[in-house]
Amino acid sequence: MKIFIAKDYEELSTIAYGYIKDIVKSNPRAVLGLATGSTPLGIYRLMAEDCAQKISYKEIRTVNLDEYVGLSATHDQSYRYFMQTNLFNKIDIPLQNTFVPDGTGDPVAECRRYDALLDTLPRDIQLLGIGTNGHIAFNEPGTPFESRTHTVTLNQSTIDANARFFQSINEVPRRAITMGIKDIMAAKRLLLVATGTNKADAIAKALKGKSDPSCPASVLQQHNDVVIVLDQGAASKLVF
Ligand code: F6R
Repeated sequence: MKIFIAKDYEELSTIAYGYIKDIVKSNPRAVLGLATGSTPLGIYRLMAEDCAQKISYKEIRTVNLDEYVGLSATHDQSYRYFMQTNLFNKIDIPLQNTFVPDGTGDPVAECRRYDALLDTLPRDIQLLGIGTNGHIAFNEPGTPFESRTHTVTLNQSTIDANARFFQSINEVPRRAITMGIKDIMAAKRLLLVATGTNKADAIAKALKGKSDPSCPASVLQQHNDVVIVLDQGAASKLVF
């Protein structure tokens, strides 16, 4: 496991983007596992800037981690909308090469469809953020490490954390579809980014605590190719 502690958010984004860029340059047909949330935004900005100059995503495929149940692609808080406005519309990737779970329709059928899709798209790298409770994607504490795509009822801490994006906390969807931990672990390389002291406990538990479902991100200890990029706040409770 490689751990970088960046001096600021810009450096964190540059280090993390470097790993994605190397993959896209060495394999123009690579499959990138992507995440939503605030932390990857700097990486997506760098991807867009580089694409405007020299790096093409025309044959790249992307697979996202999760989506809210009930939100359509045009809802401004859906993860499909987030990806289009923050990345896909700013690079030259054809939209048909981008995959995000569909939050409309029958969630159970959508989970099975997504599993079948994941089986055809082995990820070269999976980008991850982490929740303050140690979640990865929407795999909340207690999720078995063997899980595949499933629907979840969001924990109160996740609803509270995501309320900042909605007009009121009542509008935050209570359910989501998420890639399971087994499929996250199937990626060749995992790249986790985290910022801020509010993530420090989760990072310490994930990287130095016992690897078990009480902290979903602690599963990363069982993967053989993991890169962690933190700012000083997120790294502040790590003891080496
Ligand atoms: C989003 C996702 C979540 C976030 C996590 C951290 O696709 O999978 O697990 O990565 O909630 O979110 P931010 O980056 O907003 O702190």
